[in-house]
Amino acid sequence: MNTVFHVTDRSVPLSAKARSRWPARLDLLQSGTGLALGLFMWGHMFFVATILLGKDAMWAVARFFEGYFFFGRSLYWLVSLIVAIVFALFITHAALALRKFPASYRQYRTYRDHMAGMKHEDTTLWYWQVVTGFALFFMASVHLYIMMTRPERIGPFGSADRMWSDLMWPLYLIMLFAVEFHGGIGLYRLALKWGWFERGDPDATRRKLRAFKWAITAFFLVLGVATLVAYVKIGIEHAPFYGQPYEPAWVTGGHQP
Ligand code: HEM
Repeated sequence: MNTVFHVTDRSVPLSAKARSRWPARLDLLQSGTGLALGLFMWGHMFFVATILLGKDAMWAVARFFEGYFFFGRSLYWLVSLIVAIVFALFITHAALALRKFPASYRQYRTYRDHMAGMKHEDTTLWYWQVVTGFALFFMASVHLYIMMTRPERIGPFGSADRMWSDLMWPLYLIMLFAVEFHGGIGLYRLALKWGWFERGDPDATRRKLRAFKWAITAFFLVLGVATLVAYVKIGIEHAPFYGQPYEPAWVTGGHQP
């Protein structure tokens, strides 16, 4: 005889029912933290890229987040607080992602074989999301810790010195590729999972979302590399004056190296 289980079955103890909701809740939390981080990253890339508009523009953005234009002086702890919140989101997101990592080499091999057999783009994308996510554990932690503990060094010269003289550019370059692939794939998978843009033919929606995802990734990679090159150029020129912060001409009334 077939046994039929009903979700509303009252014979199931409440604690077991409540427990069974946890995977869904954790999944929602992972999606939510991922979405928040993905949207934050879009803003972050534009703020950091203001260096392409000139040193004054980047200086103004950095001072804005320190509350300089509201309080008449820089409150660096404000930046540390923002970073601490992003750091908490990042750790939560990473901890929840651990559940989905292959737990043993055997599981990993099974997945790789499955992926090779399927040759399905979305399965391959998931693999790359795991690989880039793993790399970000280490790289983003270094970056976030420095941003949180040395907020006063964020600025056209401070950031450029860090990139070039402190030799952070190789880490930033790899992190840029990792975060753009990871974030792009993540947002694409979220849109599919929650059916945000589903209209009519699901295959057509998937194709359109995939094209959009690649376009966004390519855009932020080009912007990111151009930004990196701009900071490195300033960092090389400013190396003899390492540590000296930037002051815009309208503050100093003169020229700075
Ligand atoms: C509130 C948190 C964050 C702040 C305040 C922040 C700030 C900055 C700043 C000021 C730079 C310019 C270089 C420097 O000063 O060292 C930078 C670069 C960069 N950050 Fe962040 N960041 C934050 C979070 C993140 C996160 C979570 C990631 C990725 C997981 C990330 C990835 C990058 C990358 C890839 C670059 C190089 C950008 C490029 O070359 O175009 N940042 N960040």
